[in-house]
Amino acid sequence: MTALRGVATSTGEHLRHHGDREASPGLLDLAVNVRLARPPRWLRATLSAEITLLARYPDPAPARMTVARRHDRAADEVLLTAGAAEAFVLVARALQPAHAVVVHPQFTEPEAALLAAGHRVDRIVLDPADGFVLDPARIPATADLVIVGNPTNPTSVLHPAAVLRSLARPGRVLVVDEAFMDAVPGEPETLTAARDVPGLLVVRSLTKTWGLAGLRVGYLLGAPPLLALLQRAQPLWPVSSLALAAAQACSSGRAQSEVQARARRIAADTGYLLRGLAAVEQVRVHGVARGPFVLIETPGADQLRLMLRDRGIAVRRGDTFPGLGPDWLRIAVKEPAVSDSFVATLTDAANALAVRTREASP
Ligand SMILES: Cc1ncc(COP(=O)(O)O)c(C=O)c1O
Repeated sequence: MTALRGVATSTGEHLRHHGDREASPGLLDLAVNVRLARPPRWLRATLSAEITLLARYPDPAPARMTVARRHDRAADEVLLTAGAAEAFVLVARALQPAHAVVVHPQFTEPEAALLAAGHRVDRIVLDPADGFVLDPARIPATADLVIVGNPTNPTSVLHPAAVLRSLARPGRVLVVDEAFMDAVPGEPETLTAARDVPGLLVVRSLTKTWGLAGLRVGYLLGAPPLLALLQRAQPLWPVSSLALAAAQACSSGRAQSEVQARARRIAADTGYLLRGLAAVEQVRVHGVARGPFVLIETPGADQLRLMLRDRGIAVRRGDTFPGLGPDWLRIAVKEPAVSDSFVATLTDAANALAVRTREASP
């Protein structure tokens, strides 16, 4: 088998490592950022009803129309995909970038997809000391493909829409991964309706907010010629009829009210977790967390992660993300009682680690 160049790098990063590998059954799962344990009842009912129609081939037109309406777009400005993950593969396979730039730390699949398609990737690594702020001047003028997350996984930082707009140029494709944007109340920095930004592709996912990670459903928004190019790289019937039914249902007005209420709750829960973490002496948070997860820096996080596992909690290791290292962990935001229990367990583990380190030093 041909190796995927760069997918496991010499620095110990593993671009294809994701939180699901850490969430073993029986552990409290704070490693994966899927908010719901299962899809809401009304959504499960929609999916169940669709099962009786599975003999038909899928027709994306109604879902495409509903998603377009939700974002003030036309149907040909929407391309439904098998999750956001497929969108990155389409970008990598359909485009021929001469200079692809990925802004890190971020979700690693875009870079993995580019490498797997044979492209070279230039990394721009944001600095925790600046709160992971993106200075547009750092993006090389020669970049003809730029990929950035907003809000970014794992930093949880939300970049201003104006900063992202300023990255667009004629001849450049700008991919903004908004997989977690629906967890931000009011989506103030979204670019979903930005028709005036040349080369813009916005990636959205329905898997996080709706508890649909197993279904594989997401979409791209962008100019019709660019989407048509990407669509040609898709197989026939790439999105199942169940996934299409979910896309349609989750874009309805009722679903949008529900998602906004949920986003407000997530923001409150994030604040609660941050206040708890502020009381843990060994922990630092850089930047402003706006997504449904928090990135922390704490000495010996690689050991702490294992100690937390022994105490029944799975968290996401940080060292597989470019730009981070063994002192980083990502924690999913849950309701306050879960955060209380996490903070107490983390404090206990961090104190035990400090004692162990002191005893081991000569
Ligand atoms: C930032 C980000 N984008 C995209 C994805 C992929 O989402 P999907 O499940 O829709 O493929 C993930 C999954 O973890 C993610 O963290």
